[in-house]
Amino acid sequence: MSLVPIGEPGQKITVASLREKKLHHEPITCLTAYDYSSARLVDEAAIDIVLVGDSLAQTMLGYENTLSVTIEEMLHHTRAVRRGVKHALLVADMPFGSYQADPNDAVLNAARFVKEAGAEVVKIEGGEKRAALIRRIIDAEIPVAGHIGLTPQSVNVMGGYKVQGKNLSAIEQLMRDATALDRAGVALIVLEGIPREVAAMITAEIETPSIGIGAGPDCDGQVLVFHDILNLSWGTPAKFVRRYGDAAALITEAVQAFRTDVTGRRYPSDEESYHLPKETRTGLETVLDRKRAMRR
Ligand code: KIV
Repeated sequence: MSLVPIGEPGQKITVASLREKKLHHEPITCLTAYDYSSARLVDEAAIDIVLVGDSLAQTMLGYENTLSVTIEEMLHHTRAVRRGVKHALLVADMPFGSYQADPNDAVLNAARFVKEAGAEVVKIEGGEKRAALIRRIIDAEIPVAGHIGLTPQSVNVMGGYKVQGKNLSAIEQLMRDATALDRAGVALIVLEGIPREVAAMITAEIETPSIGIGAGPDCDGQVLVFHDILNLSWGTPAKFVRRYGDAAALITEAVQAFRTDVTGRRYPSDEESYHLPKETRTGLETVLDRKRAMRR
């Protein structure tokens, strides 16, 4: 029995509480957030994990893919999210180029996310071939999240955003990737864009919580992009995206109503304006009356 109630609203989520949730078959929730206000909303809705995903390259910065986003941009957004998150576990993506070249640089860059931006876990894409690096980062006391399957930083190698793990050798590789990360001691593994049958096999095989996106319902948890669930992403949504609200319509309606009110001189009203105190108004009226009298 756990001494700490897990996942109750208001309870701080840690790497350990995610493991507890997996053990107790309690679904884990994760959403991306990229700024203070969205982070507060997500955290106050008792979502377990807030991910500052490098998908902010597209959703916030308008880049074509995640490859262009820099470590400085990721740190800037992670700091803003940190200020809005109290209870959720804060995971930040290490961007493309910040961990692939040199393991020492990778450890130093991972430490920047913790020291300068308050991330609790850093996320790295790739499986078996990243296991040694991940061990080094964990040895430096920095928890790491894995990410396998459709890994957007490999878009040019994959030749597009394609579902992975569709034939036997690809499934075997994914199993090896998942086991290598599990053994390396990652905090969680994101399974992206893989058949549900494969995600189910991986989830059953590993002790680490699996968090799926386009990986079916049998993962230990699910993650979606904040902008996708609110209709704030442009383009055709992927098959797995479920829209829970239409913030685009809400924002457009509000912005157009503001424009109509201003151009029609209906905003601001007298009630929305500041007024002089009574004595000052009386004094001002006397001064203006005198001026008018002198002009006559
Ligand atoms: O960057 C991101 O938003 C992600 C999720 C899709 C898991 O990595």
